[in-house]
Amino acid sequence: MSDLALRSRIVHFLDEPSSDGSNVEYFEDGVLSVKDGKVSVCCDAGKAQREGFDLDRCERLPHHLIVPGFIDTHVHSPQIDVIASYSSQLLDWLENYTFPAEAQYKDEAYAAAAAADFLDYCLAVGTTTSFVFTTSYKQSTEALFQAALDRDMRLVAGKVLMDQNALAELQDTPASGYADSVQLIRDWHGKGRLGYAVTPRFSGTSSIEQLESTGKLLQEYQDVWLQTHMSENLLEISWLKSIYPDAKDYLDTYQRYGLVTDRSIFAHCIHLSDSEVARLADEGGRVAFCPTSNLFLGSGLMPIQQLRSAGIPITIATDVGGGISLSMLATLAEAYKVCQMQGYSLHPYEAFYMATLGNARAVHLDQYVGNFEQGKEADFIVLDPAATPIIKRRLDQSNNLAEELFVHMIMGDDRSVERTYCHGVERYNKQEQNNK
Ligand code: GUN
Ligand code: ZN
Repeated sequence: MSDLALRSRIVHFLDEPSSDGSNVEYFEDGVLSVKDGKVSVCCDAGKAQREGFDLDRCERLPHHLIVPGFIDTHVHSPQIDVIASYSSQLLDWLENYTFPAEAQYKDEAYAAAAAADFLDYCLAVGTTTSFVFTTSYKQSTEALFQAALDRDMRLVAGKVLMDQNALAELQDTPASGYADSVQLIRDWHGKGRLGYAVTPRFSGTSSIEQLESTGKLLQEYQDVWLQTHMSENLLEISWLKSIYPDAKDYLDTYQRYGLVTDRSIFAHCIHLSDSEVARLADEGGRVAFCPTSNLFLGSGLMPIQQLRSAGIPITIATDVGGGISLSMLATLAEAYKVCQMQGYSLHPYEAFYMATLGNARAVHLDQYVGNFEQGKEADFIVLDPAATPIIKRRLDQSNNLAEELFVHMIMGDDRSVERTYCHGVERYNKQEQNNK
């Protein structure tokens, strides 16, 4: 594995930050060096030199800003084919666009090519770790794991479990879904930087038998994750009541089968009752806040402050293709607006923390990624201060780091990412891409 050293402006988080800058570590003239794919030095250049580091080894990028690679805790790889599909809300969108798009992934060659494209798009927006729903086809999950292994990316993914209320060709059975998940866990979980998430799509598309077998999987493989959707849309919630008349509420359809643990990530959680919020907090469940998706599908404004004050860890995610961009910068901009609509102004330190160390912690990956602590995997991105003429103009006026980060998150997107490194290896370079 090649070693490298960059001398640039660097920012990362040591812990949850406050707006006064505590737990924000910033080097105006910093060194980030990598050995065997891991962070070996991250400090002020003067300090590095005093400790014997040869600064001549460094490539210099004095005006750029290096930040940890972004972590997306909820995204659907096959839905790159249906971003921006005009529709009414969630259930129609699933039926008219999402399910037919996912059916295309039965074709192995299509699934393999699309998996590679998906990961290259992630790298181009600075996302180095993702939690991914593939499709119900086992081989589409294998294709994604293989493509991630080829790029040495840290990635958690799962085959979608769904045995009812979807296109017949997409449906599995409780037995086949269980067997495919077991095989995928054995083949891929813990291989390279990969992990497995058991992935029932949502209670609407899984029978009681399937939810039971999902609980069994979690009992048998305690270090995998669970990912699903919950309480996204009002029509979805009333439809679920008709499918599960005996359930106390939406959460109960998961809780009664043992699917709510501190390794479970529930996307959306916009319309939870007080009882659901309290029980979700008690069980340690994690929430993925997906602002671009929630706005695009008209699902609602996630009550981030209410969930947080109940003690629920909130992650941030794109939810492509309900979400309309793979860019975590674009996602932070929408998060800011969703919070503004509820009287809360999401601070840029908090936003960048969420997209990096905060997400890593909530999903138990912070021993590997999330910041530049010595020994962590060197996943990072180089942000371009001149991504567009107007961004350059605005950044030239900024007075401090918080303001600079805020401009990146409100105005930035894929154009802001100059380079992306995974495990110490450059996997995306905007200049090279532009010269192609
Ligand atoms: N609920 C069930 N499936 C999906 C999906 O693919 N996207 C979103 N946004 N919500 C869902
Ligand atoms: Zn989703």
